[in-house]
Amino acid sequence: MLKLVLANDEKEISQKAYEIMEQEINSKDDVTLGLATGSSPEGIYELFRTKKPKTNHVTTVNLDEYLGLEGTHPKSYRHFMNEKLFNHLPFKETFVPDGAHPISGEEAAKEYDAILNDHPVDLQLLGIGENGHIAFNEPGASFDAGTNVTDLTESTINANSRYFKTKDEVPTQAVTMGIASILKAKKILLIASGEKKAKAIKELIELAPTETMPATALKNHPDVTIVVDKKAASLLNEKQLKQYSKMSS
Ligand code: F6R
Repeated sequence: MLKLVLANDEKEISQKAYEIMEQEINSKDDVTLGLATGSSPEGIYELFRTKKPKTNHVTTVNLDEYLGLEGTHPKSYRHFMNEKLFNHLPFKETFVPDGAHPISGEEAAKEYDAILNDHPVDLQLLGIGENGHIAFNEPGASFDAGTNVTDLTESTINANSRYFKTKDEVPTQAVTMGIASILKAKKILLIASGEKKAKAIKELIELAPTETMPATALKNHPDVTIVVDKKAASLLNEKQLKQYSKMSS
C-alpha cells in the first residue's frame, strides 16, 4: 500500500522523513534502519548531525556500493556514509556492501544477504532513479533477486557522473540489495524531489507492478510512505493526489 505525503520543497521532505525515522528509532530497544546514499537523503543526514538522536541501539544496512571501490575511496558509498552520518553519531553497527571483496562481487553479495538475514530491516529509506531504479535495481531487474552484482545503465552512469571528475571514472557495476531484499523491510520510506523525478513518480503511481519499472515493486509491499515535493509530484493529477494522500491521514 502506497501513501503519499506532499512537501513544499526538499527541506520539508527531509524534515518529514527525519521525523518518521526518529519515531522508528524511538519505538524500541533494538532497531535496524536501511539507508541510502545520493543527494536525496543528504538533508536527512544533516538533521541527524544537528539533532543527534540516540543511536547506540541502531544498526544500519546500506542499499548498495560501487563494485571496485574500497570503502576508503572518496567516491565510495561507505565513505559517503562515514562522512555524512557514521562519523558523527554512535551507531551500534553499520553495514555497507563490500565493493572491493577479495574474492568477488558475487561473494560480497552472498555475505551481505547473510547480514540482512541477521538484521531484518525495520524501516528502509529509499531514493528513486530518474529511470525508476531503487537501490541499483535497474529496469528489467528481477523482483525475486536478493543482493547481487549489477551493471549500471547509461542513464544512471550519466546521473551519477556529477560526483566524479569525468564520466569515465564512474564505476559501471555495483553490489546492490535486490528488490526481494528491499521488500523484506517492515516499512519503506521513499523520498523524491525535483522535476527530474516527476516522470518516475508518475509511473510509480500509475503502473501495475512491472520489472521494466523497478520502483513499481513497492506496490507489492504493505507499508510504503512516499514523501515528495511539488515538483516531483507535478505530473500527478488532482485525483491521484487526493486518492494517495488520503491514505496517509
Ligand atoms: C543510492 C541508491 C540510488 C539512489 C538514486 C537517486 O544508495 O540506491 O538508488 O537513491 O539513484 O539518487 P539521488 O538521490 O542522488 O537522486
